Amino acid sequence: MNLRDSICRARADGRLVEVTAPANPDLGMAPLIHRHDGRPVLFDRVTGYPGWRVVAGLASAREYFAAALDVPPAELIYKLADALTNPVPPPVVGDGPCQETVEPGVDLTRLPILRHFSFDGGPYVTAGILVIDDPNYGRNVSFHRLLRLDGRRFAARLVEKRGTDTALRKSLGDLPVAVCIGNSLPVLLAASMSPPMGVDELAIANALAPTPVVPCRTVPLHVLAETELVLEGRLTHATAPEGPFVDLTETMDFARRGPVVEIDRITHRHDPIYQALLPGKLEHKLLMGMPKEPTILAAVNQVCRCINVAITPGGTSWLHAVVQIEKRGPDEGRAAIQAAFRGHGSLKHVVVVDADVNPYDPAEVEWAIATRFQADRDLVVLTDQPGSSLDPSGTHRAGEKSLTAKMGLDATIPWGAERSAFEKIRL
Ligand SMILES: Cc1cc2nc3c(=O)[nH]c(=O)nc-3n(C[C@H](O)[C@H](O)[C@H](O)COP(=O)(O)O)c2cc1C
Repeated sequence: MNLRDSICRARADGRLVEVTAPANPDLGMAPLIHRHDGRPVLFDRVTGYPGWRVVAGLASAREYFAAALDVPPAELIYKLADALTNPVPPPVVGDGPCQETVEPGVDLTRLPILRHFSFDGGPYVTAGILVIDDPNYGRNVSFHRLLRLDGRRFAARLVEKRGTDTALRKSLGDLPVAVCIGNSLPVLLAASMSPPMGVDELAIANALAPTPVVPCRTVPLHVLAETELVLEGRLTHATAPEGPFVDLTETMDFARRGPVVEIDRITHRHDPIYQALLPGKLEHKLLMGMPKEPTILAAVNQVCRCINVAITPGGTSWLHAVVQIEKRGPDEGRAAIQAAFRGHGSLKHVVVVDADVNPYDPAEVEWAIATRFQADRDLVVLTDQPGSSLDPSGTHRAGEKSLTAKMGLDATIPWGAERSAFEKIRL
């Protein structure tokens, strides 16, 4: 399975928006991707970049993931949970389409990297997956936005204490890196996950769908054989200003210094398709939130029976979750709140509901808060917790983990109460 399979499926289903008029990656494509949020958009002609096409939005609906993984949308959470606990190392093959063309030199200005807003720090790679090798934990694969600085260099955003940041801090010299752009939905999902250190995200991708890898040309790493574009290089200890950038919360993430990535080799398919991803829109939201649902499910299942978890788009698909439980004791609502925070470190607000409340329906969740919750009895507030760097209301200090307050609402029927008084009378 690869990016092109998703484009073919979208075209066959009539969902693909195909833009045949020339479009400019510099401020011209982002408004069109935004207008069609929820649908894949393929740009056939890219102003200034002959031979390239650009695609966005392939991951912008739960149904697209469900179709790619051949499960109903409601069962995605179990499919992801299964792959997370049963990873399968990817097969190594001799060659792959990602190396059909080996560029004789390096010139990043010849890649159609999008600039979304005039006040962004510059053109940003947003769907790039960085592959690195941690000396202690092995391969780590994750998304990192990359600001193009010039023809050879990017500035990367590495959130502190995540896999790539940890590996770079440990390495005395440059850390070899390969950036893969243009990937299948299982690979995008796996790269968004934060499994325990030492668990290879590509083995999770391979458990979801066959995902062969090939050796890189200049660095001791393996990359996805079917990816569209590979940038081989080094993460250095030099830093450069990175940002500002409109990110997941659709607010301006401020400029910081980020490590410089130097690129030494570019390989790609013969007729490459550059994958773009518009931050804060459905594709970004789903990729951030969906992989956290199984980790919250697993954490809550350790303290009570968890039926389902929904990370909600109104909460930027990162900061808010609804946890549905089958309550079997007086303290399980509160225990579920604490467990949900353990299951997703950046979670800020969580609502716990019973089995009769649809966690995907914001009006039903609010109804449960209105009819089952008392603030002086059912509210949990935690102060000075590690939180998300993306929340502008948190406390952010350079080089340190961001801090936040957290809130959990136990909106389940009070234990021992007469259930019939709390049940919704449905016609
Ligand atoms: C589209 C997208 C963009 C992301 N951009 C960044 C980023 O710029 N920097 C970062 O540190 N994490 C970013 N993330 C989050 C990490 O990729 C994700 O949390 C990953 O699981 C971290 O894994 P690790 O803890 O194993 O390194 C992004 C995630 C997605 C889905």
